[in-house]
Amino acid sequence: MQREEMDGEYGIGRFGGSMRVESVQALAARQREEIPARYIRPEMEDEQLLLAGDNEAIPFIDFSKLVDPHFSEEEAAKLHLACAEWGFFQLINHGVPEEIINKLKNYLEEFFQLPLEEKEKVAQLPGEVEGYGNAFVQSEEQKLDWGDMLYLTVLPPHLRLMQLWPSNPPSFSETLSNYSIEVKRVANYLLSVMSKNLGLEQENLYDIFKDGMQSMRMNYYPPCLNPEKVLGLSPHSDAVGLTILLQVNEMKGLQIRRNGGWLAIEPLPGAFVVNIGDIIEILCNGKYKSIEHRAVVSNEKERISVAAFHTLNFGDIVGPISELAEEGKPCYRSLDFQDYMKQFFASKLDGKSLLDRMKLT
Ligand code: OGA
Ligand code: NI
Repeated sequence: MQREEMDGEYGIGRFGGSMRVESVQALAARQREEIPARYIRPEMEDEQLLLAGDNEAIPFIDFSKLVDPHFSEEEAAKLHLACAEWGFFQLINHGVPEEIINKLKNYLEEFFQLPLEEKEKVAQLPGEVEGYGNAFVQSEEQKLDWGDMLYLTVLPPHLRLMQLWPSNPPSFSETLSNYSIEVKRVANYLLSVMSKNLGLEQENLYDIFKDGMQSMRMNYYPPCLNPEKVLGLSPHSDAVGLTILLQVNEMKGLQIRRNGGWLAIEPLPGAFVVNIGDIIEILCNGKYKSIEHRAVVSNEKERISVAAFHTLNFGDIVGPISELAEEGKPCYRSLDFQDYMKQFFASKLDGKSLLDRMKLT
């Protein structure tokens, strides 16, 4: 089906496009070549890196305790602190079957190892972000990230652009679909606990997101000969509601803004890294914060990650929930979801700039 033939609805990736740039994986494969200037980030030299010590590590939340009546109250309180004070946490015992996760990991490693021509069968279309390519390239001048991605809208199913779902490896789509349902279930439950934690009806946040979109950003960060000079992913906060990140291999690289520096995340094996996005910060009028983060790369090996983004849908409004807009004082404006997304894709990834534009002064 041609895009023109589709009725007005479309997935998250079609609010704006990205200029085509070379696959970073292909560039990195030409080993001895100097890193092109567009990838060199001078700011990497003077930015302070905090190291995660014993008392500086993001909290972890045990999902099996959240759902267990004997422990849920205590664990929900931990979750509240994690959301209010960190905006990031690791989620252990999430219950997503290992079999599904392992399949997804294997298929993704296989997909990114395919020859470029094969991967480009699902390349981004002009003016659109979904598919294989790079996000947020808006000008010839801007600095580029040391990474490629495969970006797909997964839920609701009728928004899938199946022609951009890889048919190689053959069971990739089925596995991504199964993974998506599991992760959505986890997100739904977290949202209902957060809702209660915020003093809302338990169903409130859950209801707001239940028919919302889920998209997956599958990141491939190739190794780099001078990893200290590049960035896998520019600093940004996620424009969505809730992000659930899966580490596909043992390589780490995610860092979050903390006390003016960058704190490296040390993923626990099998855990998800979950973070509050801009939309939840706006909905709860700033009670939970959407924290800036970035990804660095290594000189040894590629890193692969899957960010599952949970956001709103057409017709929804991005704006503070009235009960939380204290004494009638909302801190953010309200905007139609579609207009909000257009703003997002129209700008280069730039820290928390979208959120700043939503702030009322
Ligand atoms: C993202 C993201 C971090 C990572 O895709 O939005 O922040 O570690 N990814 O890949
Ligand atoms: Ni992110």
